[in-house]
Amino acid sequence: MLLEDKTVLVTGVLTPASIAFECARVAQEEGAKVLLTSFGRARALTERSAKRLPDPPDVIELDVSNPADLEALTDELRNRWGRVDGVVHAIGFAPADCLGHDEGIFGATWDDVSTALEVSTYSLKALAQATRPLMAPGSSIVGLDFDASKAWPAYDWMGVAKAAFESLARYLARDLGPDGIRVNLVAAGPLRTTAARSIPGFARFEDVWGGRAPLGWDITDTKPAARAVVALLSDWFGATTGEIVHVDGGAHAMGT
Ligand SMILES: NC(=O)c1ccc[n+]([C@@H]2O[C@H](COP(=O)([O-])OP(=O)(O)OC[C@H]3O[C@@H](n4cnc5c(N)ncnc54)[C@H](O)[C@@H]3O)[C@@H](O)[C@H]2O)c1
Repeated sequence: MLLEDKTVLVTGVLTPASIAFECARVAQEEGAKVLLTSFGRARALTERSAKRLPDPPDVIELDVSNPADLEALTDELRNRWGRVDGVVHAIGFAPADCLGHDEGIFGATWDDVSTALEVSTYSLKALAQATRPLMAPGSSIVGLDFDASKAWPAYDWMGVAKAAFESLARYLARDLGPDGIRVNLVAAGPLRTTAARSIPGFARFEDVWGGRAPLGWDITDTKPAARAVVALLSDWFGATTGEIVHVDGGAHAMGT
């Protein structure tokens, strides 16, 4: 099994449609011990989803924009496991004006944008910082990305946040590499999750993606992305860091 005896922290499970839910499921199937995180009112939903995993995991409180939660997370993981072998970052949020605004990129204020960047981008560094003391050489951090090399319809400031996320992953790979910790991203094609449904106009991607992707694309199937996440968590990608693996049916590689 790919993750035999490994301890993996999975953020971002909201519903069974969440990409992170499938990551947790595949990780357990591959032998990992898993803990989930959630926060505030979302927690009840996460706990309900957790019950549908093969081995229902505990849920730890974590709002990535709350320093006290991050500090408590380190202690909680130290007490429960003593070490963390893998971390899945599957967190994204942007205030409504950041996405699909009539005025496009001009629709959002700095207050909106700073929230989007804090929760969707900076959080990768915050999570890495909280888990780093517990990560031994061979550990792996994997984040969920949406290809930020182009300007997409409606994605707007979330696209900017993802571009910074991609850059941040490379800098984290640089700074954690000497500790033997890998940092990689999986750039998934559009998937019909709660976060995606909150983006006005996102349906436009969903409609065209399958036609652009040489392998085709199923917007309801999170398994290919989850399997790539688990592979990157495993020792089978032991010399790969700062990488973005596209799991999008091949759409990113096509001219039209
Ligand atoms: N759905 C897609 O089409 C798609 C494609 C590529 C990448 N992604 C990325 O995948 C990741 C997971 O999103 P998803 O599509 O599975 O949607 P989702 O709505 O199921 O998950 C988003 C998660 O972010 C969490 N979150 C939001 N604010 C948070 C905070 N302050 N602290 C902690 N957690 C917080 C939510 O609780 C939720 O669990 C996101 O980074 C998203 O950008 C999604």
